Amino acid sequence: MALRWKGGLKDRDVTDETLWLNRRQMLGGSAGLALAGLAGLAGGARAEAALEPNSWEEITSYNNYYEFGTGKDDPARNAGGLTTMPWSVKIDGLVDRPGDYAFEDILAQMELEERIYRFRCVEAWSMVVPWTGFELADLLDLAGVQPSAKYVAFETVLRPEEMPGTAYRVLDWPYVEGLRLDEAVHPLTLMATGIYGRDLPNQNGAPLRLVVPWKYGFKSIKSVVRITLTDSQPPTSWNKANAREYGFYSNVNPEVSHPRWSQASERRIGGGLFAKREPTLMFNGYGEEVAGLYAGMDLSKSF
Ligand code: MTE
Repeated sequence: MALRWKGGLKDRDVTDETLWLNRRQMLGGSAGLALAGLAGLAGGARAEAALEPNSWEEITSYNNYYEFGTGKDDPARNAGGLTTMPWSVKIDGLVDRPGDYAFEDILAQMELEERIYRFRCVEAWSMVVPWTGFELADLLDLAGVQPSAKYVAFETVLRPEEMPGTAYRVLDWPYVEGLRLDEAVHPLTLMATGIYGRDLPNQNGAPLRLVVPWKYGFKSIKSVVRITLTDSQPPTSWNKANAREYGFYSNVNPEVSHPRWSQASERRIGGGLFAKREPTLMFNGYGEEVAGLYAGMDLSKSF
């Protein structure tokens, strides 16, 4: 698979963006290979240029995390008060070993990797983010998924005293999301713990958030405290809020417009006021890997 390289990198090994970029240059061969793979994957030179990661500043100051407010700068301003240590994730439902998994115990058993993924919000802006994390499939293996499981449900922490945005019922709290099991165990599906090799900032979903790069950003639920294996499709926050506008699948699809705007193009954050919009890619450019998951489905109906 083209999008990963293993460098044994651990959080805190790299402390700033410049160092991280230098380190990537030093990686030479393997990073070069990963990028060459990406270019092939997503259609040549344009895709390669588009994969220059956004800056730390851009990634951590323009956020959606409604538990801390609906403005793009609210999360960076308000999320500092979220307690992320200690942290544990309850894994329950159709698993052999249900329980509360302490974040440190999870980390000790996971192999962290860097992955540079495109990130496309349903609001038609995009970034490129160098995540640190591990595959969700490996985390689910810790708990042992039972054969009857078909879906995975996720839940964000809910602490009204630390999350000022939850005083407003813009969404039905806690924030919940879900994936089909085959989507959840796909090798592209990541649990992220960092960006640029540093721990995730609270506004980006510390200490642990989902990243599903071929789906609109709202599927990538932040600050996860519970993962439940089920045999029926779980409710998801934006679908509950407005089922006509936000489906369960929410695969990036330039051909299916949001009822209020086109999804055919996107505004790359950091491109400047007069930058040309870029065409949106089917499955956000990851079609070669994931299109098979949806064979035979009408993606305009199952959006
Ligand atoms: N998770 C929670 N718990 N609450 C949220 O409001 N917003 C979603 C997603 N995960 C959100 C969330 C949306 S709409 C997007 S686009 C991404 O987080 C934004 O992630 P970022 O701020 O790290 O770019």
